[in-house]
Order: sequence, then structure tokens, then C-alpha cells
Amino acid sequence: MIRLPQYKNLINGKWVDSSSGKVLANTNPADRQDVIGEFPDSNVEDLHVAIEAATKAFESWRLVPAPKRAEILYRAGEILTAKKEELAKDMTREMGKVLKEARGDVQEAIDMTYFIAAEGRRLHGHTTPSELRDKFMMSIRIPLGVVAVITPWNFPMAIPSWKIIPALVTGNTVVFKPAEDTPLSAHNFVSILHEAGLPAGVINLVFGSGEAIGPTLVSHPDVSIVSFTGSTEVGRIINQNAASSFKRVSLEMGGKNGLIVMEDADVDLAVDGAVWGGFGTSGQRCTAASRVIVHESVYDEFLEKFVQRTKSLNVGNGLELQTDMGPCINESQLFKVEKYVQIGKQEGARLMCGGSRLDGGNYDQGFFYAPTIFAEVDRRMRIAREEIFGPVVSVLRARNLEDALEIANDTPYGLSSAIYTHNLNYAFRAMRDLYTGITYVNSSTIGAEVHLPFGGTKQTGNGHREGGPTVIDLFTEWKTIYVDFSGKLQKAQIDE
Ligand code: UN1
Repeated sequence: MIRLPQYKNLINGKWVDSSSGKVLANTNPADRQDVIGEFPDSNVEDLHVAIEAATKAFESWRLVPAPKRAEILYRAGEILTAKKEELAKDMTREMGKVLKEARGDVQEAIDMTYFIAAEGRRLHGHTTPSELRDKFMMSIRIPLGVVAVITPWNFPMAIPSWKIIPALVTGNTVVFKPAEDTPLSAHNFVSILHEAGLPAGVINLVFGSGEAIGPTLVSHPDVSIVSFTGSTEVGRIINQNAASSFKRVSLEMGGKNGLIVMEDADVDLAVDGAVWGGFGTSGQRCTAASRVIVHESVYDEFLEKFVQRTKSLNVGNGLELQTDMGPCINESQLFKVEKYVQIGKQEGARLMCGGSRLDGGNYDQGFFYAPTIFAEVDRRMRIAREEIFGPVVSVLRARNLEDALEIANDTPYGLSSAIYTHNLNYAFRAMRDLYTGITYVNSSTIGAEVHLPFGGTKQTGNGHREGGPTVIDLFTEWKTIYVDFSGKLQKAQIDE
């Protein structure tokens, strides 16, 4: 019998097994016979040790000059760059997205690492004149302490990097709990940070199930911030939990993003955007173009081309070069997609293509679902309102720009949006009136770059933004300092 690779938690600078002695197997969603390795099924005890290590490490890490902290992160960026190809292959194997996209995921982590490492020599505060003589005033940023990082499986390296790198450069320490479906990429990322020279306890990695260790991680009194990306249901529980202790919580949750195609749009370009946004990562992105809202005068032309292009997509193992779309992440996600396709049919939407699992041959070994388009979707239908997180796109009809904007905004979520048009007035109205954290013009709903804020309105988030300069606010507290060098008692606001 071949022994599977065994992976360990990283706690206080050491690779260790869980005290539970239990493991979780990680399998390839394109081929469930392919077991990648076994990872610790950690328990609350492991977590306590990790949080204690992070709490202790914080006392010295916060005193390391930020440019020196950043040097370690730059080194991690170099290692990530050198290992990009093998990291991407591991990612495709455990997560299913096509290799090109997995490379992009690793690249996003590299971009974030270099971008944020540069903050080590910025972390700007303010100075401003005092109303009094011989008095100096400034505001500076200070770290918060231990950050709990909880991440999803759809961007197994990019999303952890959005949280961990800024948390570290600002002087916090981290306890990282990655998604059960993508432990290898988390392991790879943390190994690189460790190799780059982070001191013991600054980054701790604890594998395990959200159910077993999630509640303790988010409610532990020594955890100062919880940074979570995942479902709105779990985000709500985390937020409620944190309310009584006033713990800072940053949530990135669901999306039901609208891509508008106006009557003057370049229809072929819009089709490219709808296919890429709808079926990239098998639709398993919170930024996915899951609703396409098309002006009635180009509706038929757009739909015909969109369906034709979608039917030609090659679904398969993401490691194979000819594959355009990989599998769903796991069986329960596949069931969810099936359930929503049934709902769509019952609601009376018109199924244009897909609508079933793919089977036969290699398909039987994985969680493959055909890329699916529903037309004549009404905005009140559940398939137009609820996040499916799979390869299912709803096409809706709009009468004019107002109607399109109203439909696009008629959702509980507010992450991303897009408009295809050459009309400057349409474009600017959309930029102003689409109530989402991100809007694209003549480009799909996906493809955010690391150096601008990322996040959404309404039930997508809780007001924070990752990425961009704004992420620094998330992981720091402001501290205001007054220095009086007059040598006498001076009183602000008091008339003398
Ligand atoms: C996500 O969908 O969970 O803009 C993140 C994008 C990527 C990040 C997506 N850069 O689609």
C-alpha cells in the first residue's frame, strides 16, 4: 500500500500533528481516486496552543521595524515567484480550476505580497499643526494583535494572501484556518512564509473543519480581528458572535453580480465577458457574472452567441491544456448546482444549454457539471437572487438603461457589476448608480487587481475593503499622539 503524504499544522514555528491524532483526506475534484494527502483534523486544544503562540509572538513581532518585517515578505514573494508553476499545479489538482487560472491565483498572491511589502516603508500616518505653541501632533498606526484568518477554497492562495500579508506587515500575528477542500495550497503558502524567515509563532496554520474549530477561533478572547471570506450565512454567525466582545470583524461574502449588455454594445466582446465571468473557475467566484442583463433589442443576438460559445466549452481536468472549465469543488456543491437547476426549471426559466451533470468516461470520477444558461429569467426567481456558486448563468431582459440598472441593483448582494456600452452617458450613469463595491466598463465582473480596494456593499460585506491602500486600515488601529514641548501647562479649547 502506498502511504499518502502526511501534512502537519504549523504552530509556534514547528510542524506538528493534531493532538486529536485524526486526519482529513484531500482529494482531487476532477478524479476522486486521486487522494492528494492527509491533513490534521485539528481540535480546540491545537487551536488554543496556536493562539497562545501567536499572542506571545505578537509582543516581539510588533517591535520589529516595519521595513524589516517587509523584507521577509519580499523574500516570500521571491520564493512564490520561483515556485509559481508547481504551486499552480498543486492548486489545480486539489481545487479543479484550469491551470491558467491557478497560475493567476498564485500570481495574485505574488502581486499582493510585493504590493503590501512596500507598505513596510509607508504605513503613513498624519501630522498637523497644533492650535497651541510648542506642541506637536501626529497620528500613527498600531497593530491589533492576533488575527484569525478564515478562507474559502475558490482562491486557495490569493485570498489568504489578501489577509495574511497585510496583517503581518502591520505587525499583527496570525492564526490561519484554511478551507477543508484546499489545505495543500494553504500549506504551500505558509511553508513559503516560514522559509522566508518569519519568527516562530508569527504565522500559525491550523487545519481542520470549520465546525470543529471555527467557533472557538472566532470567539477566543485573545483574537483581536477575524478576517473571513465565505458564505453570508457563516459571516452572519461570526458577526453576531463578535458583537458582544466588540471584536473587529472583516467579512467578504456572497455575490450575485449583474453584467449589463446595452443595445450599442460590442456583442461579441460582451459574449466573451459573459463566458469568462460566468464559467471561469466553474462559476465558483464571488465575483462571477451570474446574471446577464441584456437590452431587448440585442437580446436574441446576444443569447444565441452566448449559448453557442458556452456549448463549445471543453469541460475536463484542469491540468489538461485543452480544458476550458474544470469540475465543481465537491459533491455537495454539485448537489447545490443540481438543486438550483431544478428550481430554475420549476420557476419557468428557459434552459438553453447544460442543465445536467457530465458523465461517462473520466467524468464519472469527478464532480463535473455542464455549463448552464437559463434565459427568460425573471428577477424575482430564486435563480436570479440566490448565489449558486457554480456554472449556471441567468439571462434577464431589460427595456432600457434605467430598467437594467434597477434589475442589476435588485439583489441582496453588492460585490461586482459590469456594463458593456460605447455610450459615455450610459457608462457614467452605471458607474455612479450601480450600488456595488466594484464596477467594470466593457469588461467582465471578474479580474480585480490587488492595488485597489476589493469588497462589496449590502450583504456582501460589512463595510471593510481588502486590497488597495484601504486594507491597512483593517489591520491597524489609529493612535493619536500629542507632544507638548512648551514646558508649561497648555490647555486646548480654553480661552485664556
Ligand atoms: C472571489 O471571487 O472570491 O476579481 C475572488 C476576481 C479575482 C478575485 C475573486 N481577482 O475575480
